[in-house]
Amino acid sequence: MNTVMINDSTQLQKAALILQDGGLVACPTETVYGLCANALNEEAVTGIFKAKGRPNDNPLIIHIANLDMLTPLVQSIPLHAQMLIEHFWPGPLTLIFKATDKVPQSVRAGLPTVAIRFPSHPVIQSLITLSGLPLAAPSANTSGKPSPTNALRVKEDLYGKIDAIIDGGSASVGLESTVVDVSCDIPTILRPGGITKAMLESVVGTVHVDPALICKDEALVPKAPGMKYTHYSPNAAVIIVTGNFSAVCEEINKRLSYHLENGEKAGVLATDETKHLFNTPYSISLGSEKCLDEIATNLFEALRHCDDLDIDVVYTLGFKKEGIGEAIMNRLEKSAGFNIIHKDI
Ligand code: TXA
Ligand code: MG
Repeated sequence: MNTVMINDSTQLQKAALILQDGGLVACPTETVYGLCANALNEEAVTGIFKAKGRPNDNPLIIHIANLDMLTPLVQSIPLHAQMLIEHFWPGPLTLIFKATDKVPQSVRAGLPTVAIRFPSHPVIQSLITLSGLPLAAPSANTSGKPSPTNALRVKEDLYGKIDAIIDGGSASVGLESTVVDVSCDIPTILRPGGITKAMLESVVGTVHVDPALICKDEALVPKAPGMKYTHYSPNAAVIIVTGNFSAVCEEINKRLSYHLENGEKAGVLATDETKHLFNTPYSISLGSEKCLDEIATNLFEALRHCDDLDIDVVYTLGFKKEGIGEAIMNRLEKSAGFNIIHKDI
């Protein structure tokens, strides 16, 4: 398939026509790039699953650009959902509602619910408005890979498999939206993201967290089907090392020399403040440890950069599970397949 590269906002009309014809367009959002199709066209939606190699039991988020688009897709808008909408839309928050029959089965993977997001990025908003369509859009990566935060990474995964890629620069948040189930009595976080639990609670009071996100008990199935898959993985093995900082550095450096002796390329995901402490030419900074937002923005690009460098194994420092640190560690733990070493002295 010929993939058109679109670098200019005057060409968005072309992308809107592709979507109206049932085609697939990758597009920037404020979180990560999305792979868009007409959410109401089963065949177009099936194309998304095929291009990404995505398991078809993993439902998609529908993106809208005004609240009138929400009403036909959901059975009701509970009060707590209304309050969250007023505070956080447009923005990096996805809400799960009871779906109407208008939402195709393929979009919601047969579930009675549907995920909806009103993104704040002007390019996807224009695309929705110009096409006049609600757009189903997962992250625009091959299933299992780290989500793309720029058009070049989308091209790496999907060039030749989709109709167009819109280049709108780098995504600012860098991690996918927070997913909150509002179809139940107490709003429940199914995937942590840039809108944190504390931010949600400041608006609606108590917010629950899906127990499967906290407890590693395999018997607990996450309520967001996508959270059960291995994810965000570069080709390199990812290992998280947490605990007492000097013990962590010592452990990582011991392991780095072992890999070096065995002819393996071993890297570290560190911070501006700690990058120089590791004995490898592949010590990559995720940003300043004083700014977790910066670490979130750079995380997926850094994981993909490990593959550019052909790294075999990458060690990463842990971050405090506070605020957006919760989402950073959720993505890191999944990319590491929960391969975590704890060093206490
Ligand atoms: O920031 C984002 O959310 C990005 C951009 C492109 O908007 N999209 C994104 O989509 O991350 P995706 O498909 O990679 O992740 C959607 C997550 C999956 O974990 C999926 O299982 C969950 O949302 N999800 C979708 N519909 C659901 C539903 N009805 N019930 C529970 N979880 C649902
Ligand atoms: Mg994804």
